[in-house]
Amino acid sequence: MKILFVASEGLPFSKTGGLADVVEALPKALVAGGHEVAVVLPRYRGTKATAVLMPSLTIPMGGTRLRFPAIADGAQLNGVRYYFVDDPEYFDRDGLYGSSIGEYPDNAERYAEFCRAAIEVAKHVWPADVIHCHDWQTALVPVLLRTSYGDDPLMKDVPVVFSIHNMGYHGQFTKDVLERVGIPPSVFHPGGLEFFGNVNLLKGGLVYSDYLTTVSRKYAQEIQTPEYGHGLDGVVRSRADRLVGILNGVDYTAWNPEKDRLIAVTYSAKDLSGKQVCKQDLLKVFGLSPEHLSRPLIGIVSRFADQKGFDLIAEKAHELMREDLVLVVLGSGERKYEDLFRALAAAYPGRVGVKIAYDNLLAHKVEAGADLFLMPSRYEPSGLNQMYSLKYGTVPIVRATGGLDDSIEPFDVEHGTGTGFKFKEYTGEALLSAIRQALHHYMDERIWKRIQLNGMGKDFSWKTAAVEYAKLYEAVRALRGSGQAARGVSWPAQSSGRAATGSGQTGRGAGQATRNQKPAGTSN
Ligand code: ADP
Ligand code: GLC
Repeated sequence: MKILFVASEGLPFSKTGGLADVVEALPKALVAGGHEVAVVLPRYRGTKATAVLMPSLTIPMGGTRLRFPAIADGAQLNGVRYYFVDDPEYFDRDGLYGSSIGEYPDNAERYAEFCRAAIEVAKHVWPADVIHCHDWQTALVPVLLRTSYGDDPLMKDVPVVFSIHNMGYHGQFTKDVLERVGIPPSVFHPGGLEFFGNVNLLKGGLVYSDYLTTVSRKYAQEIQTPEYGHGLDGVVRSRADRLVGILNGVDYTAWNPEKDRLIAVTYSAKDLSGKQVCKQDLLKVFGLSPEHLSRPLIGIVSRFADQKGFDLIAEKAHELMREDLVLVVLGSGERKYEDLFRALAAAYPGRVGVKIAYDNLLAHKVEAGADLFLMPSRYEPSGLNQMYSLKYGTVPIVRATGGLDDSIEPFDVEHGTGTGFKFKEYTGEALLSAIRQALHHYMDERIWKRIQLNGMGKDFSWKTAAVEYAKLYEAVRALRGSGQAARGVSWPAQSSGRAATGSGQTGRGAGQATRNQKPAGTSN
């Protein structure tokens, strides 16, 4: 099968968050499963291309306005073909989605051009059996295929799968954007892209795609509720028969303490001694005293966004620091959280190490050197760091939401089972109590090693998820082929516990850190 990925970021070319990890690893896993995969990405600053495939595409942008991006060839990497939409005025910028001032004001134009160009790649360069789109930046692909391309015999029936990596980012714009970027006005109605008088691109993806996926089973259920639906839960519910949750995987070629070249020394489940050396190195890199080697070290690596639950840490910071622990924080994003962690570092010098940065090398060092990894997310579609942590023998403390809930089993001292510590209520008290429970078990070396080994033994590789996606692509092709592209046909029975229908049966430098769009609910 030929699968074309369309995404706004993807390693090794561009990244602000986990989407980029997924857009690198899932195509690789599909190729390993015998499929052909190409990925279309914007050509951001620093993205190297090997050749120009199409020097000038004509892209209509509304009214009489046209743009002329090139399609650049990114060659083949790990068996995956890469194409870049090259329009320097739009994409050769410091950040991907915005700068320190905020999001780029022309994001609608940028990603509308990108979506149309991606469709042209599918039409002229790399004809696909299925197109797989990701998040709001690519939502115009299904919308345009079923409208502007509705009479195009080559494109009108190409099936589209749309993955929701984060319901909190809508790509919401005022109504005039329709005319500005050339979206057919016929889609502006409550059953289409209209959202309380505005244009909501994510909603377009949800409504016009043949099938929806999200990145964990739990999140597939959560987004059907008002608490997690960001105002679009009704739309998701109306498509529940076309929604599946497939937990993200881990690329163990990049995240594995046995082979990781970015950490001080490698180590394995058989011999964990190297982990202490990594802890020593981490303390040094964060300017903390080597005396802390025997104290529990809690690590955080994150975008700083409301989603990540750091207000709970703010609430209980001083109580937390009364515990005998060391805290290491790597992240960047919203100013209030940068200030929070800077203030903590100032209040507890030598015990709290903070780096406000986006730094992959440091991210690996934290994974390897920390004893515990904290993710108190308010919501978390999948989350990757908790799964990376498991492999590094770094015990996760997580809130039981989305992919965190699906991937972390609470430790059960009686049976010696479980991989981490979870709390449910979104309160500072619940967070503190989970941390205290973890610290209590940390004191017993034998128990602690049990928890570490339980986690290190887990396999979250992409293989299983790739098989689920491949089945889904086949099913979607069959739906389109049989003319049943509308609704009402259920997804075939699941063969693995990692995926489930969301219908309740079973169940991103200046700019780098500002994830795709303002969270829903904020004005644009
Ligand atoms: P999200 O996509 O919501 O940010 P994920 O857990 O899915 O959350 O993925 C985050 C990815 O970004 C991980 O690969 C993580 O290591 C990386 N990351 C996040 N913050 C930083 C940072 N400050 N420096 C380096 N890598 C980071
Ligand atoms: C989003 C989510 C995160 C998920 C990632 C990749 O950024 O916040 O939970 O892991 O996408 O799917």
